Amino acid sequence: MEPLHQFIHDLRELTTAKERLPEDALATTVGELLAELVTRPSPIPAEFTVRSALHGGRGRYILHRSPTFTISSIVWAPGEIAPPHTHETWGAIGLISNRIEERRYELNGDDTVRPVEHHRHDRGAVSVLIPDDDIHSMHNLTDTETVEIHVYGKDLTGLVRRRWTVEGQDMREFSSGKYMNC
Ligand SMILES: [Fe+2]
Repeated sequence: MEPLHQFIHDLRELTTAKERLPEDALATTVGELLAELVTRPSPIPAEFTVRSALHGGRGRYILHRSPTFTISSIVWAPGEIAPPHTHETWGAIGLISNRIEERRYELNGDDTVRPVEHHRHDRGAVSVLIPDDDIHSMHNLTDTETVEIHVYGKDLTGLVRRRWTVEGQDMREFSSGKYMNC
């Protein structure tokens, strides 16, 4: 079985089991499986690891969509930044190439956020998000593309989430647009 298909099979079993793990344990277990996947030689088809000029240079593809989990690939352009935002579900993010900077944030009482952790992830690294600790920002500080696989407990397309400015101010609700292949 191809690595991605095996991963989907394992996640289906995990997320539909009669006695399901609590969300934080589920996210950790998915993160361990994702760490194996992202270090495989070709974890996902090459067409989902490049940005497209047809879509304004973006790279954002759905790899699997089901009621209990979704898998996507994200290609970060050099210098690309995603200011602090929430996911409203558990998640795991694994790097299949290059590096990325991730900051984690905590909420202040006035709906602003403050950075509390800074991580520099290399190829093979996995970052786990749990619902009460899921505010982060991402920044590709390198001069080449960074490719990630994202796994979430919900379909983020159209899901109402929150985001802030890079300084952690001015909270707004938003929802993600469509993926490039659907
Ligand atoms: Fe994110």
